Amino acid sequence: MASLRTATAEASPNIALIKYWGDVDHALRLPANGSISMTLGGLSTVTRVTFDPTIDRDSLLLGGEPAGPAALERVARHLDVLRAHAGLDGHARVESTNNFPSGAGVASSASAFAALTLAALTAAGIAESSESLSRLARRGSGSACRSIMGGFAEWRAGTGDADSFATQLAPGEHWALVDLVAVISAAPKAIGSTEGHRLAATSPLQAARVADAPRRLSQCREAILRRDFDALAEVVELDSLMMHAVMMTSTPPLLYWMPTTVEILQAVASWRRGGLGVCATIDAGPNVHCLCEPGAAPAVEGALASVPGVERVLACPPGGPARVLHPAS
Ligand code: PMV
Repeated sequence: MASLRTATAEASPNIALIKYWGDVDHALRLPANGSISMTLGGLSTVTRVTFDPTIDRDSLLLGGEPAGPAALERVARHLDVLRAHAGLDGHARVESTNNFPSGAGVASSASAFAALTLAALTAAGIAESSESLSRLARRGSGSACRSIMGGFAEWRAGTGDADSFATQLAPGEHWALVDLVAVISAAPKAIGSTEGHRLAATSPLQAARVADAPRRLSQCREAILRRDFDALAEVVELDSLMMHAVMMTSTPPLLYWMPTTVEILQAVASWRRGGLGVCATIDAGPNVHCLCEPGAAPAVEGALASVPGVERVLACPPGGPARVLHPAS
């Protein structure tokens, strides 16, 4: 009987401190600019991949339920990339579970494609460097390349497939920041990021955002390395607002914010003026990620929970790298 090759891997999502928005190559997911993130501890995707010579197509279970055709197709396309890399041609059963509800305000594609990449290559019997894993994970979802790394990661845009991957800037223990995610709506978004990256270039503001990215990246990198919260807060908020300005001015425009989103942005600004170390950043959705130093976290968490319209608040410290849970058999 033909043997099954199987492995399980775990990865966490991440919050971009300097955002990736817009591709220069959609198929390869090569970004218009570099980005920096913090991997989110406590949240994870666990994915098992089993290459099974007896099946004639890939299958995908998400949280125990068969996935819809769009999700299956995206995973099958990524498996094609991994199969080509590994020199394999069998089909696979993929079973993936998040320990956070989908639509909880945290995008799961980063953790999903990081875990899928690591599990599939491990099942194929291939041990890759974290840089190579990051490069491959990028092909499934750009931000997944950063979720291969624990702590703080930087994705250098690069010039092509070979040099576009993330590396670790600093481990999580370097700075015990907390990301308090104010969940305003768990509804799925009308236009996801894959489509959004294609629209970015239609905004007249995108060229200016991209041209200024090296300056913001360097300010953010320095702020992390020096653990300078005020410098971090300034650049994180500027970068998030620049991305949303591009989104709002693309054709068609993308307006992810809801009234509560704006309310929290204003509240965070006033809390910071009042001396609380907190800043806000928003990915492609209405929910607000409030970054703070550990001493400020209880006060910020309590204040966020009492804003009308906030459904729940998730508290995430820096998380670890993607890891294999069971060795390939
Ligand atoms: O990796 P994608 O295609 O899901 O795009 C991520 C886009 C943002 O979350 C808005 C920004 C980022 O850098 O993570």
